[in-house]
Amino acid sequence: MSSTTRVCGLVTALLLAALTAAFAPSAANADQPTHAAEPASGDEPAMAYDSFRPGQPWLDDQGRTIQAHGGQVVVSKDAAGETLYYWYGEDRSNGYSDSPGIHVYSSRDLYNWKDEGLALRSMQSPDQFTTDPYFTELYAGYDDTQEQAVYRDLGTRRVSPDVTPAILERPKVIYNARTHTWVMWVHADGPSETSNAQYAKARAGVAVSDSPTGPFRWIDSYRLHVAPAGEPNYQPDNPGMARDMNLFVDDDGSAYIIYSSEENYSLFISKLNDDYTYLATPPESAAKGVDFIRPYIGAHREAPAIFKFAGTYYLITSGATGWDPNPASYATATSILGEWTDHGNPTSGPGADTTYSSQSTSVVPVGPAGGRFVFMGDRWTPDTLGSSPYVWLPIRFGEGDSMAVDWRDAWTLDDLAPQQRYTVDAAMPDFVWLGDSRKLPRRVKVTRNGVTTVSGVSWDTSTLGQPGPATVTGTLHTGGQTFTRTVLVVPHGLRYVVNAGEQATPDWRGIMAVAGEEGTVLNSVPEQPLGADPSTGATWGYVSEESKAKETTDGDLYTTLRYAVSHRDLSYHFSDLDPDRTYTVHVGYYDPWPWANRAARVSINGTVVDQQRLFTSQYTAGAYAGIRSTPDGEVTLTLTPTRSPDIQVSWVMIFQTG
Ligand code: GAL
Repeated sequence: MSSTTRVCGLVTALLLAALTAAFAPSAANADQPTHAAEPASGDEPAMAYDSFRPGQPWLDDQGRTIQAHGGQVVVSKDAAGETLYYWYGEDRSNGYSDSPGIHVYSSRDLYNWKDEGLALRSMQSPDQFTTDPYFTELYAGYDDTQEQAVYRDLGTRRVSPDVTPAILERPKVIYNARTHTWVMWVHADGPSETSNAQYAKARAGVAVSDSPTGPFRWIDSYRLHVAPAGEPNYQPDNPGMARDMNLFVDDDGSAYIIYSSEENYSLFISKLNDDYTYLATPPESAAKGVDFIRPYIGAHREAPAIFKFAGTYYLITSGATGWDPNPASYATATSILGEWTDHGNPTSGPGADTTYSSQSTSVVPVGPAGGRFVFMGDRWTPDTLGSSPYVWLPIRFGEGDSMAVDWRDAWTLDDLAPQQRYTVDAAMPDFVWLGDSRKLPRRVKVTRNGVTTVSGVSWDTSTLGQPGPATVTGTLHTGGQTFTRTVLVVPHGLRYVVNAGEQATPDWRGIMAVAGEEGTVLNSVPEQPLGADPSTGATWGYVSEESKAKETTDGDLYTTLRYAVSHRDLSYHFSDLDPDRTYTVHVGYYDPWPWANRAARVSINGTVVDQQRLFTSQYTAGAYAGIRSTPDGEVTLTLTPTRSPDIQVSWVMIFQTG
């Protein structure tokens, strides 16, 4: 193509995107080629982009929306030893059905992508094996059975309105240095021989090519490993399902396929054979821990993205909510077929509950030795699937094996500073006083690459205004990295420390130990029904016509709680307070069942202090200051449900403030 038709600037790129959006009615980019496009002329593509802009339109060198959804970037070298990136993904230019195949783009800088056409072409008719030279040549040696298998998996042309015969999702490519072959695995789905459901087939398919840009030749698709006997199996009658998937080649050349199985309930990692074209060991004879592992069992994880940094394997996954985004989670392991530990959501702040409106697909190892990695996600727009934007963000490593993905409106590879693994040895105090960070250490020991130094630290103390367990974040003066610790926050002058749910959790005992030294606390047990305290004799306790305790053996002040049933109120009554003093009453709220959307009105001695207190998955506390007891020295806290779900209390603390 001539240079005049190329995208020559960001403004043009954006204009084109706007025009596409305005004039293409349903299927985005209707002008997308349905066969391998001629590569652009030998010159370098025009430099249109110099940053990543997550969620914004992203056009290729020909001004068309990049069609590489659910994809992955392969880092390779050209003949001159220069880095050359290939981005593979689903071509959704025709929408959900009738996919032209798997598209591939190349780039020198990760911002600007040259259209290299279709790496793997799908089929519209079995006649193409004899009529279309592309298929005639590629499948020359195939017999009828093999051709049927190819058409079963690549025949994407929709013949009925209800079902798309072949669905090609989440393609991934690895290079086999031993066989000098590029190997592509794809989630190959569609109806099966026994079911007309859209995702009944649930197989992993494989294709090979001598060239990174194809043509890839389809071999077959397979069901993969199954849960070992004795372990929970969420699809015992439908063995070996394989859907959302990824690939990983380890330092020793061993390759692995990572996939959602058992109707997406469990996630497997299975070792591939030396050719990377099938499992190393077939399902019948495979052993867990040797041939495969199940990092998530019954956890409903999808969209696996895997990478390795400083000897640790990282696995980012999504939940399973179709095209709708949900919170990501990440897990780590020191051996790929060993124990995996989940660490929860790597994203934070606004958008963390939807992974910034995206679903993971891969991680680009831009500079793996220096900890330079890019998170790749898809922001699916199911009505116009082909224009689903991409969300690429830098990966930041925290202390130990922790990692984070932070939102950026725009960013460049310069923001991807080299990172090192670090651990912090901070001599944390048993507790800090409420709102007072002075007990936190001013200096900590930091170990990087086996070398330990001392660094000053600044603490973000915004969480210390709430009693109980608090997470504090420290920023190292050398290096600027952060780390977090849990610290117990204790108010002076405590009169009551109630852990609703009757559990003497370690944090409750910690606070009682401090309060005991001050000698002012009037309760000696975590919780009791209204009555005399067994040790101090003070009258206190909960009052409820019907309530239950939620006890967890490894819980804390928040997770152990008392919940009312049958829409009852729940009250706590306290006595022996001084009517001439003022008190602050803190109440801890947390919901292990947050989907219930429960809410309460909170009153103290009959005065409403909180009109609508919501219960969420966050640890929160209400701080009700300036409280006076009745003339008899009594304080009564009452929660009344304001919505249909029942209400609950995690803990109550009363301390003297004046
Ligand atoms: C998602 C999955 C996608 C696609 C989609 C279809 O959960 O990650 O790859 O299969 O469901 O609804």
